[in-house]
Amino acid sequence: MATRSRIHVFDTTLRDGEQAPGFSMTPAEKLHLALQLDRLGVDIIEAGFPISSDGDFEAVRAIAGAVRRPIIAGLARAIPADIDRAWAALAGAARPRIHVFLATSDIHLEHKLRITRQQCLEQVRTSVAHARAYCEDVEFSAEDATRTDLAFLCEVAVAAVRAGATTINLPDTVGYALPADIQRMFTEVGRQIGTLAILSAHCHNDLGLAVANSIAAVQAGARQVECTINGIGERAGNASLEEFVMALQVRADALPYDTGIHTQALMPTSSALSAVVGVAVPPNKAIVGANAFAHEAGIHQDGMLKHQLTYEIMRPETVGAPGTRLVLGKHSGMRGLDARCRALGHRLRQPELERLYTKVTALADRTKTVDDDQLAAIIREETATPIALGAAAASRRGGAVLR
Ligand code: KIV
Ligand code: ZN
Repeated sequence: MATRSRIHVFDTTLRDGEQAPGFSMTPAEKLHLALQLDRLGVDIIEAGFPISSDGDFEAVRAIAGAVRRPIIAGLARAIPADIDRAWAALAGAARPRIHVFLATSDIHLEHKLRITRQQCLEQVRTSVAHARAYCEDVEFSAEDATRTDLAFLCEVAVAAVRAGATTINLPDTVGYALPADIQRMFTEVGRQIGTLAILSAHCHNDLGLAVANSIAAVQAGARQVECTINGIGERAGNASLEEFVMALQVRADALPYDTGIHTQALMPTSSALSAVVGVAVPPNKAIVGANAFAHEAGIHQDGMLKHQLTYEIMRPETVGAPGTRLVLGKHSGMRGLDARCRALGHRLRQPELERLYTKVTALADRTKTVDDDQLAAIIREETATPIALGAAAASRRGGAVLR
């Protein structure tokens, strides 16, 4: 059996995630989420960007003091003032990491930083050495790595490692790369730095490829993946932690990599983040969306009632979701309806069921879904008997939980 490699999960929900418009968090909210990320089992929490504001400095300092198991990282541009501030926030951590970044693509060097490649290399060396004088754990990120000349990127990575960086992160800052580009980049940089540092992926989702690219990076030697809960982050977001982790778990046959994530804590963590930022997860979001384990179509409901594996590739409990839901709508079939009636304590005869079915689909045409209270009311009309609504209140979202 192939040996399985351990992938370090670097969560940047509290840094890159909160950089998305409308997602900023107070120090108390960040601390609350950091404790949840600790329960989830992430290896590294990027707690913030200490120079960006006094509030963010305070958040990083508080998390560093209170969350002792994972590594706590703080972001810094490749300039002394940022690194000093990051260290001031991190110094009390049990396992601190300074994360230094500098753009390396010609587009960024010419138009944003207005420095030459030689100046960039020099800044990498001095800033990493500056951080390393404070802290043994230093990550260097080559911002816009995927649009950087590959030979120059290799020079940068080697310079950073020689200056003391222990992790080299190659971000797809603008979400531009394809999986094959990512594989080429990681393979080449990996060849240059060998085992002197851990390679890390940080993929943005502008083309919807962030998770696929993160997996491609792992296949090409990355052993750290940077991601966020619910995939939040700049523009279209970062690689979603829950999707990346579950892809490795569900496709363990093809992907011989493990993480330390307690997957049952995925849904609670996703919900905790939504509650804090006040932004709901889209229902069709993989793993943690409300529809991730919901089935409305008659053919699917029939399959699910016969065997759960027909239309689900993972059990809802594995990710901390309440359970499979069979939702009654205009696409539902007789078997799904019968199952819902039985769940409410009613075994209807075929003619009754057929009449009920006609009424339920007519209602669903108007209301989209039919919840247990509505179903109970129709059964009452149909059978003229009172109904005890045991399970009804539990499924106000419009679906019975299949157990
Ligand atoms: O996307 C990016 O390049 C970043 C770096 C700061 C790591 O977020
Ligand atoms: Zn980023």
